[in-house]
Amino acid sequence: MKVIRTVSGMRAARRLMAGPVGFVPTMGYLHKGHISLVELSKKHNDSTVVVSTFVNPTQFGPKEDFDKYPRDEARDLAMLEKAGVDIVFLPARQEMYPDGFDTWVEVKGITDKLEGAARPGHFLGVATVCNKLFNIVRPQRAYFGQKDAQQVLVIQKMVADLNMNLEIVVAPTLREPDGLAMSSRNVYLNTDERKAATVLYRALLKAKEMKQAGEHDNATIRGAMMEMIRAEPLTKIDYVSIADTISLQELEQIHSQALVSLAVRFGKTRLIDNIVLT
Ligand code: PAJ
Repeated sequence: MKVIRTVSGMRAARRLMAGPVGFVPTMGYLHKGHISLVELSKKHNDSTVVVSTFVNPTQFGPKEDFDKYPRDEARDLAMLEKAGVDIVFLPARQEMYPDGFDTWVEVKGITDKLEGAARPGHFLGVATVCNKLFNIVRPQRAYFGQKDAQQVLVIQKMVADLNMNLEIVVAPTLREPDGLAMSSRNVYLNTDERKAATVLYRALLKAKEMKQAGEHDNATIRGAMMEMIRAEPLTKIDYVSIADTISLQELEQIHSQALVSLAVRFGKTRLIDNIVLT
């Protein structure tokens, strides 16, 4: 496994790759969810798998956790080596955002909602860094997790609108045995918060059950979910949403597919999760 820290080094390595290249962008502090993307990429791309680990400063708000976002380069590299990754791109901040950097990629519309509304500027940073990474790595396929459902939509829209020449592959959310979606941020949780955090998936399953039992009313389902979340100590709801899976418009009645998503704070830790109802 080769570790590359410069854009010029990554470009040079890319020129030597013959077959299809699969790419998994991450912010490091890897867990099995990230590795499941790597495994999918290995299955699809017989030649090369590139993973980037870069905690992208531009997608964090001024009051968010950029400085304390967990980092462990040695552990990440060991996990990637074990997973059979060919190249790890690990740029420093200056390499990605040199002095004078002043170009941004803005996906409008869907970025006003959910995570975009709660975290202004977040998707400007995500779209910009993914665009840069795609230009540097030039993959045939890039792998994203359904865990960040709105991020998937934003990246798919950017790729379509800007005629970018790659396929976006979406992988299912990997969960802990008790249902909590794997996330680098789970390490922030203390024992009580970790216990309370299982309510996220329980609330999502509640929505699924209610729909299966014939309930179609958004307000009724969201009401039941919020009641369940509030019954747990230590929780503060950012949003609970049942929306169209493409436009992210909130639905009044749920008859076809719907994205049920939520963001909840447990103490200082903000977690998101979602499921798609069919
Ligand atoms: P990060 O949070 O490190 O996640 C990297 C990728 O792993 C994303 O596509 C995310 O959806 C996926 N992922 C996270 N948890 C997962 C889980 N439990 N199961 C399956 N996949 C999971 O998302 C980012 O980084 C950044 O925004 C990035 C795209 C790298 C741009 O900076």
